[in-house]
Amino acid sequence: MSSAPVLPDGWTLVALDSVGSTNDEAARLADAGASEGTVVWAREQTGGRGRRGRHWASPIGNLYSSTILRPDCTAPRAAELGFVAALAVADIVPAGRAVRVKWPNDVLVDGGKIAGILLESAIAQTGRVEHVVAGIGINVGFAPELPEMRYPGAALGGSVEIALEKFTNALAARLVEWRRDGFETVRAAWLAKAGPIGVEVDVKLGEELVSGRFAGLDREGALLLDTAAGPRKIVSGELLGRAA
Ligand code: BTN
Repeated sequence: MSSAPVLPDGWTLVALDSVGSTNDEAARLADAGASEGTVVWAREQTGGRGRRGRHWASPIGNLYSSTILRPDCTAPRAAELGFVAALAVADIVPAGRAVRVKWPNDVLVDGGKIAGILLESAIAQTGRVEHVVAGIGINVGFAPELPEMRYPGAALGGSVEIALEKFTNALAARLVEWRRDGFETVRAAWLAKAGPIGVEVDVKLGEELVSGRFAGLDREGALLLDTAAGPRKIVSGELLGRAA
């Protein structure tokens, strides 16, 4: 595809060849008043950032985009947008490939991580959200290895332009659903695509590794785990596959 991606009605594309991080550029534009649906897309990032301070390798060939959102809500509710974005990524995976979401915001295809999501919010002193930048990296042309995650990489295939067009349209549709129906609908859709209840997982909480059985997602988006010491609710951490 050589033509420019077609974004949903009312959305605006800021296309760049190279940038440090699309999240930083989107935050700068949001601070200057850019509206919801402004999408910063770069062919490459020289300082791509992942969750927990990790580097996100961003050479030409994969999708790097950040979308400005202006939900009228408080910070805890804004965190729900990570699940909304993960579902939008899952929506664009071709039928016939096994797609799963992994807490909190990863998407796995055929057992490999295909996308990462980095949500960054600006919160007013009142506690209301001024803007959220939803940064999405989708492996399109190639799959970097992610040994620290215990997962291989996976790639979507096709062109970056088509991936961006499909993703932004899926995100717009999932946002309508979230605003109209609330988190409960999102949570149910996310659980339908998550690993089976009862599967053994490890969760990294800083330096601590907690093992247990996946027991679902609560109404605020926390991970529920059944551990040998009893049930646990985890609000922040990194879910890892079983090493062996
Ligand atoms: C993760 O750690 O899984 C999240 C990775 C998020 C990467 C994307 S690429 C576009 C946007 N800009 C960044 O610097 N990071 C996000």
